[in-house]
Amino acid sequence: MNTLGTIFRVSIFGESHGNAIGVCIDGCPAGIALTANDFEADIQRRKSGAKGTTARHEADTPMLLSGVCNQKTTGAPLTIVFNNDNTRSGDYAQLAQHPRPSHSDFVATQKFGGNADVRGGGHFSGRLTLPLVAAGVVAQKIIPQVHIAAQLIEVGGQKYGEHNDVLAAAIAKGDSLGGVVECRVQDAPIGWGSPFFNSLESLISHAVFAIPGVRGIEFGTGFAAAKMQGSTHNDLIIDELGHTQTNHAGGIVGGIANGNEIVFRVAFKPTASISLPQPTYNFAAQQVETLRIKGRHDACFALRTPVVVEAAAAIVLADLSLGS
Ligand SMILES: Cc1cc2nc3c(=O)[nH]c(=O)nc-3n(C[C@H](O)[C@H](O)[C@H](O)COP(=O)(O)O)c2cc1C
Repeated sequence: MNTLGTIFRVSIFGESHGNAIGVCIDGCPAGIALTANDFEADIQRRKSGAKGTTARHEADTPMLLSGVCNQKTTGAPLTIVFNNDNTRSGDYAQLAQHPRPSHSDFVATQKFGGNADVRGGGHFSGRLTLPLVAAGVVAQKIIPQVHIAAQLIEVGGQKYGEHNDVLAAAIAKGDSLGGVVECRVQDAPIGWGSPFFNSLESLISHAVFAIPGVRGIEFGTGFAAAKMQGSTHNDLIIDELGHTQTNHAGGIVGGIANGNEIVFRVAFKPTASISLPQPTYNFAAQQVETLRIKGRHDACFALRTPVVVEAAAAIVLADLSLGS
């Protein structure tokens, strides 16, 4: 199952080194103005190029294959496809037998009986976040009144902006770093979300954990709340709109948006594909052997993820706005 959402249903498809990747959105309302240009800004934000990101550069040109006519959505399934043009698949030939530690090669090979495409991470690749970003652009058009903004706040344990030395050191060593992205959502109406299984935190977490490399998510004060007392943690209501003096809840109480800013942070792990040699099991040789990973990789893929986190949030909120 590779679909998220109840009314606004997002399915992503493709592999990193296959012909193309893409997204099919079922349940997209008709009449939304949409052209390829609408995707440009968000696609740029996800692209590599900055220090610490991969040397693989792709055009990432969106092709609107279905669901759009006269520059408006038709209400039929909307399909957006991106070609893969810059692949070096030979770099990944060994990985089914000698899987990268902490990457998907082992589980993909086991689960799909040796048939999975492990080139460039295959269907598990961070490249699949490009169609996710495209779906986010469409989702945001459904909820123009809601403002979603994510930014990187930490890289390799350092405050963003003060991370250049630690990043340069990791790159020089052939190692990798993780990071933390904070997302803030303004003007989500009171009432979105449900108690229990479809709590707004669960829905957002479901979408966010679809992003490869996510290790954790916390809302509001998050894990620090466990160390506080009720008297300091409670968010006192200060007006008839339900605004609160503090926002330890991160804008969600009882699974439901309470009219305050929704705030959550996402932890991304350090990139699994590092240049340093690693002793790890080789299934062909039936022994632990040194793996030297080839290919082009982000030393810190978290650098490219704020726009992906925004997309995940937009997809969930657009679905809720349509009554899911
Ligand atoms: C935008 C983006 C780019 C990524 N680039 C790489 C990469 O270059 N090399 C790598 O090993 N992992 C990369 N990842 C992470 C892997 O896709 C991910 O760790 C892997 O699929 C296993 O999934 P998991 O970490 O969620 O368990 C990237 C993730 C994202 C979101």
